[in-house]
Amino acid sequence: MKQLFFGLITLTVICAACQTKTDDPTPVAPVPTPTPVAISYLKDISPFSIGASIDPNLLKNNPTYRYTLTDEMSSITVENAQKWGWIHPGINTFNFVDADYIVNWAETNKKRVHGHTLLWHAYNPDWLNKFQGDSVAWENLMKTHIQTVVGHYKGKVKSWDVVNEAFTDGGAYRQADPRANEGSIWAQKLGTDYVARAFEYAHQADPDALLFYNDYGQEGYPNKLKACVNLANDLKKRGVPIHGLGLQFHLGVSQSDVAIANAIKQFAATGLLVHISELDILVSDWQKNSALVYTESLQQRQADKYKLIAQNYKQLVPKAQQHGITTWNLGDGDSWIPQQGYTDWPLLFDKSYSRKKAYYSFSEGLKN
Ligand code: XIL
Repeated sequence: MKQLFFGLITLTVICAACQTKTDDPTPVAPVPTPTPVAISYLKDISPFSIGASIDPNLLKNNPTYRYTLTDEMSSITVENAQKWGWIHPGINTFNFVDADYIVNWAETNKKRVHGHTLLWHAYNPDWLNKFQGDSVAWENLMKTHIQTVVGHYKGKVKSWDVVNEAFTDGGAYRQADPRANEGSIWAQKLGTDYVARAFEYAHQADPDALLFYNDYGQEGYPNKLKACVNLANDLKKRGVPIHGLGLQFHLGVSQSDVAIANAIKQFAATGLLVHISELDILVSDWQKNSALVYTESLQQRQADKYKLIAQNYKQLVPKAQQHGITTWNLGDGDSWIPQQGYTDWPLLFDKSYSRKKAYYSFSEGLKN
């Protein structure tokens, strides 16, 4: 009983203390609520389109690949599925299955689609290389192909690489036997002005599509840079419907910054849209070395280069001419570069699609 009495007294005292505490006007420091870390994505911070080239199987089967693309990119390029050998495998056969899958996915997810490529010297099917016919038959073949493919994607593919890599590194038209390293069946069969006619045919099939000439090596081969610029100016002067130029930019990490800026400036001076269309930065510098290690210092040099590209593009290409920057593939694991036998890590994401040093540096370049 005595214990119960003292218990009650204690309780009363404690409750009185609680009461006093609640009424105490002294401010109590609030428990800090953690500030949410805002995750930003390339597509949201970039003032122009940012994209990657796409493989249909990864898009179908790898959810991380799909999520990364969805979150980070505003544009996509079809990596292989619209090339002649893929989309037109027999003289009377078109196979749109894979490219349709990509284009439909892009439409659903509100991504711009850049088509690649209507004419190229490579990736052509055997039947095409062996085709026998006079110049009228060849012309008809080229026209039918362009108009069937562009027509199929009318209103869905916003822009096209109409002609890819028409020049040799020395700046001449590829003309020799197509099986030779630098040959092109198109110039050989139709003469070099096939380029102008290809643009006309594409424009007839979709008058709203933006039409590009795309090539590599302008940063390393001055005569090739000159050839691309001359072609653009010539087509413009003749009223041929060309709207843009693509700088592929498969760059070695040691590539001179001055030469990169010069190529961008000269393309911009044509007044056409400029697309950095296939960007990757090779720490191997295009040397095959299976012992190469991806050191901190190589990662940093690569990151600096990515930043420089973003800054140069922003500063040197007038806003109205910025078609955007596209990387060739998404992560190091799906890059075409190791598939060519190079030990390398050329992209913004690693093989698990985690952001690399290059990613953060590139985003800094896009912002500042
Ligand atoms: C490459 C693809 O990425 C590879 O998968 C394929 O085996 C060969 O072609 N320039 C271009 C692209 O214009 O089409 C090439 O793509 C890379 C070089």
